[in-house]
Amino acid sequence: MKLSVIGCGYLGAVHAAAMASLGHEVVGVDVDAAKIDKLAAGETPFFEPGLGEILQAGLASGRLSFTTDMSAAAGAKVHFIAVGTPQRKDGTGADMTYVNSSVEALLPHLGEGDLVAGKSTVPVGTAQRLSELVAPTGAHLAWNPEFLREGFAVKDTVEPDRLVYGVSDTTGETDTATLDEVYATAIGAGTPRLVTGYATAELVKVAANSFLATKISFINAMAEIAEATGADVTQLADAIGHDNRIGRRFLNAGVGFGGGCLPKDIRAFAARAEELGKGESVAFLKQVDEINLRRRQRVVDLVTHSFDDHVNGHRVAVLGLAFKPDSDDTRDSPALDVAVRLKGLGADVIAYDPEAIPNARRAHPQLAYADSLDDALQGAETVVIATEWKAFRALDPVETAQKVARPTIIDGRNILSPADWRDAGWTYHGMGR
Ligand code: UDX
Repeated sequence: MKLSVIGCGYLGAVHAAAMASLGHEVVGVDVDAAKIDKLAAGETPFFEPGLGEILQAGLASGRLSFTTDMSAAAGAKVHFIAVGTPQRKDGTGADMTYVNSSVEALLPHLGEGDLVAGKSTVPVGTAQRLSELVAPTGAHLAWNPEFLREGFAVKDTVEPDRLVYGVSDTTGETDTATLDEVYATAIGAGTPRLVTGYATAELVKVAANSFLATKISFINAMAEIAEATGADVTQLADAIGHDNRIGRRFLNAGVGFGGGCLPKDIRAFAARAEELGKGESVAFLKQVDEINLRRRQRVVDLVTHSFDDHVNGHRVAVLGLAFKPDSDDTRDSPALDVAVRLKGLGADVIAYDPEAIPNARRAHPQLAYADSLDDALQGAETVVIATEWKAFRALDPVETAQKVARPTIIDGRNILSPADWRDAGWTYHGMGR
């Protein structure tokens, strides 16, 4: 089937390449010429395992192309809207500029019976509004939210754990059949597929992310209580996680969640609920956000306490800048925020990340970045683990002690064995343990 993907950021670039890998003919469209040039040359604009391979294979097959020219979308049967909905400058709500402008630009190229399928995370009510905009062209609109995780984006797109189609009462049956054709491989493999109205499909996405964020903040709240009582939050998570109604996943206490989705999505959802006069229903999301931000400060406090509250001029190695491992993404990253806050307090911060330094440097040129893990550790008086990269999990306490100036470590992701590190002479602080 011929498809267009409007917006070639994280979501769109992965979606376009993944759809081509399933045999579809795909054109990716974006207003950013530099991004399009890169993609067309087979280069991924960000770090994502497996994307390079399917991108290059798609280009080589002739089924995948990229352009800044929206007219190339004409003739596609389905047009996926995959543009960003960033947090508004004033801090609340989603900025809908890109969704609105891309749909406007697409309108002249739509044909009778085409399907516009929204994938972006949007405030509930958006699909209904866009469907009215699209209707005069004879095209239909569906909402088909995306649940991909960075680091697993290709797998999550090709083998999703569920498909959700938000469709209209009038053209729902036809549009469901069209989307079934797009996702024939996943459907053939038995992927659950839920057909809903527009509002439900839009809400599924923000509800899922709100639940995940709440789960993380719940365990981080327990970490705060554990810190006040001498309990161990990791053991607590293991114990409650055995109850399969609760489940162990997303119960890792630490420096908190970040990234391009969870933080902005819970804030945008709370703002939308306010507009709907239902602010109270999701008022807890404000606390979820607050608990999350408090954990960053907790790490900063542990570092400053390790210097008797005088961090000025002391060498602190911050290991990790990406918001999670296997990613170079530093958007709303707790790790980068901790480094910046410590630098702001006058610490001599040296930061290291296996992938995220270029992005971190662009946003924070004032920070010092190490070329290697070893360089970061050399002479450090306190080491902070801020992202749980494999290389940091694998650190040997005895060898590492020989590199640093003072064996003090703040394990902001609870990935090390406190006993092993203490036995090797380290002062070890975890999060809630
Ligand atoms: C998330 C959702 O998982 C995905 O379904 C949605 O489509 C987009 O948002 P992503 O942003 O890639 O995906 O990251 P995710 O793996 O969910 O992690 C989010 C953040 O939570 C990371 O900063 C991670 O370090 C943190 N986290 C996760 C914890 O602090 N503790 C946990 O137990 C799990």
